[in-house]
Amino acid sequence: MPYIREILTDGHPALRRVARRVNPKEIREPLFQQLIDDMFETMYAAPGVGLAAPQINVSKRIFVMDVHDDEHEPAVVINPKVEELSEEIELREGCLSVPGIVGEIARFKRAAVSGLDRHGQKIRIEGEGLLAQCLQHEIDHLNGALYIDRAKNLRPAVSEEEKETAEA
Ligand code: NI
Repeated sequence: MPYIREILTDGHPALRRVARRVNPKEIREPLFQQLIDDMFETMYAAPGVGLAAPQINVSKRIFVMDVHDDEHEPAVVINPKVEELSEEIELREGCLSVPGIVGEIARFKRAAVSGLDRHGQKIRIEGEGLLAQCLQHEIDHLNGALYIDRAKNLRPAVSEEEKETAEA
């Protein structure tokens, strides 16, 4: 049974570590599969559109995401590698590890990322909009970076629009 893990918040040193690459041999182990299930459970409960393993104090290069659109299934990406980024834009962003805060950050409008899925098979995820933003946000987490490090106009989410900002 999957269970909800505690999401660390800004100030916890685990959020600032560069996460370690996953050995592909580890992927089929039951504890590893449990970790993925727990990450989805934790992300949906938050609720969020993405969650990276360091946010639950696991220093591994894994993230899960579900941007709830028609084109993209929920996904887990292990050992992600950025393949393509294009067209820089400014977007409003939030983070489950910095609850209740939003700010504007420069992101690429389009992103493509490759990696392994939960069966150890190669996958590639690409797209625009929230999907691209989420891919970049999660990879930042794996590198010990938070969006607040370079966002502008950080503020409490007050308006309805701000409160609806997706967190990841
Ligand atoms: Ni985040």
